[in-house]
Amino acid sequence: MNLSVQLAPKNKKGLLLANPVMTASGTFGYGTEYSHLFDIQKLGAIVCKGTTLKPREGNPQPRLAETPCGVLNSIGLQNIGVEAVIREKAPVWAGWQVPVVVNIVGESIEDYAQLAGKLDGVAGIGGIEVNIGCPNIKAGGAEFGARPESAAEVTAAVKAVTSLPVLVKLTPNTGDIAGVAKVVMKAGADAISLINTPRGMVVDIDKRRPLLGNIFGGLSGPAIKPIALYMVYAVAGAVEVPVVGGGGIITASDALEFIMAGASAVQVGTANFTNPRAPLDVLEGIEQFMKKEGIEDIAELIGVGRG
Ligand SMILES: Cc1cc2nc3c(=O)[nH]c(=O)nc-3n(C[C@H](O)[C@H](O)[C@H](O)COP(=O)(O)O)c2cc1C
Repeated sequence: MNLSVQLAPKNKKGLLLANPVMTASGTFGYGTEYSHLFDIQKLGAIVCKGTTLKPREGNPQPRLAETPCGVLNSIGLQNIGVEAVIREKAPVWAGWQVPVVVNIVGESIEDYAQLAGKLDGVAGIGGIEVNIGCPNIKAGGAEFGARPESAAEVTAAVKAVTSLPVLVKLTPNTGDIAGVAKVVMKAGADAISLINTPRGMVVDIDKRRPLLGNIFGGLSGPAIKPIALYMVYAVAGAVEVPVVGGGGIITASDALEFIMAGASAVQVGTANFTNPRAPLDVLEGIEQFMKKEGIEDIAELIGVGRG
């Protein structure tokens, strides 16, 4: 059986995955934390925690709240910063078979460009995932990915300074996700991933205040799966680059739904918190499905459920 997928067919370096199962940024650390739990080299790719120019402490506690069928988080991009990623993590990744994609996030277009420039040419880094679900401070705090113009600007700025494959990760907090996807593709994105977390909040009725220290957060887990699936369907129908789908994937059948809706690969996120082996379980389940159905190549499944 062939499970391999090429996520950056237009890029010279390419981003070839042995299979379509990736981890989602912020839910699998730097991969190193999980390497003693199972053979992470079996995965398609690992996406590391969102990386900023300087290390960040993140938002005030509490930063996590369980919700019906989901989790609300406002971690606030706690991370070690790009210099430490290059110095401490990339040399470890360079010895790995599984490609590692670095998720980057900035507060200005210049931040994104600087981050991408620093990561270009670093051994051990297979690609960049640009998280445009972050507030654009200069433009009053709307997410970069909320509007096509700013989403395209970030993409072009990143593409101008790196030869690495670039995935742009869309936010669901926009009125027209397919429209954003189209301009991001035109600005040079090698692939598009989605969805990041829709905004939500929880109120603590005893304390009479929002439960999260940051007031609102991002919702993830099975609660968002139907929304994510629809958005993946809409984006895959609008662009000619590979689409990576995720949002609430717990099992192989969830992942297969995304693949059949048009995703070339999938990301497993919140599921890692209850089952650290979730990405491997998803992969094994996809293999079993293919065997049962007599499918030789994963390409035969991509987009077959679009109706
Ligand atoms: C605790 C937590 C931290 C996250 N951190 C990031 C991040 O740093 N960068 C990013 O692009 N997405 C981040 N995400 C979003 C996930 O990568 C994923 O897109 C989202 O959670 C939907 O998938 P899921 O329902 O499988 O978790 C985070 C999600 C969670 C739950």
